[in-house]
Amino acid sequence: MSDDRAAATPQHVAQYSPQNTDSAPDGRLYSPNFANNYAPIRDALGALLAGRCGTVLEIGSGTGHHVAHYALEIPRLAWVPSDISPEHLASIAAWGATLGCANLAAPLHLDAAADWAGDPAVRALGSLAAVLCCNVIHIAPWAVTEGIVRGAGRALAPGAPLIIYGAFRRGGRHVSESDAGFDAALRAENPAWGVRDLDEVAALAAEAGLGPARLTAMPRNNLLVAFCRESG
Ligand SMILES: C[S@@+](CC[C@H](N)C(=O)[O-])C[C@H]1O[C@@H](n2cnc3c(N)ncnc32)[C@H](O)[C@@H]1O
Repeated sequence: MSDDRAAATPQHVAQYSPQNTDSAPDGRLYSPNFANNYAPIRDALGALLAGRCGTVLEIGSGTGHHVAHYALEIPRLAWVPSDISPEHLASIAAWGATLGCANLAAPLHLDAAADWAGDPAVRALGSLAAVLCCNVIHIAPWAVTEGIVRGAGRALAPGAPLIIYGAFRRGGRHVSESDAGFDAALRAENPAWGVRDLDEVAALAAEAGLGPARLTAMPRNNLLVAFCRESG
């Protein structure tokens, strides 16, 4: 494990701690972004995953606020949340208990920068219908992006997508001044963080046996990027 990676988690926990955001007595934390980005992500996921069945593993589920609602609104698929933070895992479980979705599994404790695809709990899921990762790779060291992409190359069923949502640079440049400011703020908080370049992520994906990026434009200059595992 790299030192960078170990540094990421406490800051995420601080971001979502009850002192900084609303929380419920049962441990549910509330994502401050939920009201803005939940519906567009759900709609884009619904389109991308149309016709697929099986299990979607989410990496870095955070509060669990989003994934519990994906499970509620896209009931055809089985949803397995995960995170590295114990506080987030408790929140994810509390969201699952509150909404009572039979198709939402108990959260897995996974470190995205490690060999998560080799974790017995992930292997027990069989080949995955999708791996989903929203708003994680810019707010974690590059080793996390590498781990997510490499693990997806091993865990996905042929043709199934790794779906990454968030801000990206394109051709080495920020797509807006606000993204440039966001990147600077991230790097000031942790020099190992930062808005990632789509070409660099796509190069990792190709090495991992995933196909070219399929892009869905999202509000506020974000992208939903899908890399499908090559067949055969
Ligand atoms: C900004 S939050 C995004 C949460 C959620 N996906 C969303 O869109 O609201 C980033 C999440 O990534 C998790 N994370 C950071 N580093 C990680 C790692 N190495 N392995 C797994 N999760 C990690 C954090 O604990 C946090 O829950």
